[in-house]
Amino acid sequence: MNIDSVALKSLIAFSHPVLMLGVLAGAFYALYLGVQVRRSRTADKEVRKELIQGKYNQRHYQLASILLVLWVIGGIGGMGATYTLFHKLFVSPHLIVGLASVATVAIAAGLAPLLQKGKEWARIAHITVTTTLIGLLLAQTFTGLQIVQKLLKDLFGTA
Ligand code: HEM
Ligand code: HEM
Repeated sequence: MNIDSVALKSLIAFSHPVLMLGVLAGAFYALYLGVQVRRSRTADKEVRKELIQGKYNQRHYQLASILLVLWVIGGIGGMGATYTLFHKLFVSPHLIVGLASVATVAIAAGLAPLLQKGKEWARIAHITVTTTLIGLLLAQTFTGLQIVQKLLKDLFGTA
């Protein structure tokens, strides 16, 4: 299938980067909420009382569940977009690190029931895995923006 319309090509090409920049912003907010969850348990008594009112544990879980869905769909969508536009996938750091990040977000989410039971080892594992995850996401943003520049050149001959 050949797509001739520049508008349609742009929609296919730029939906994934825009969505994933949203995931990037969401991930940092989830990090903030997660740190508040931890502080709700470890801070001084008075501060803890206030933090518990914030229901950070529920808010973190809700936002993180949405991120999980967008992460997996967005990652697969990136492959779909590349295949649609170029009729192949490029075995590049963006592809490999992207797939690794999808696996990593699954591990982070799979720990949820154990986290809710308050298992300390699961908390340490969750924090380790999600720190890695944010590192992978930053790497994706860097390589992703390079691909965006290349696409802008291909589609419009600019940038
Ligand atoms: C965790 C986040 C991300 C994952 C899992 C991910 C995953 C992927 C995958 C698997 C591909 C297909 C690569 C190929 O086969 O060559 C892809 C393509 C692409 N990614 Fe990402 N990506 C992420 C974040 C980003 C970000 C933040 C940007 C830019 C700001 C970006 C920009 C692109 C672009 C421009 C393409 C080419 C296809 C298209 O235009 O949609 N990605 N991505
Ligand atoms: C951006 C990725 C994420 C970051 C940075 C992050 C960070 C954190 C942190 C710092 C905690 C507190 C650990 C503690 O209590 O010591 C936490 C708890 C938790 N996280 Fe995440 N997390 C992420 C993604 C996820 C995902 C994808 C899920 C599941 C869908 C999830 C579910 C939970 C749950 C259920 C808890 C326990 C809340 C409670 O104590 O009731 N997180 N997270």
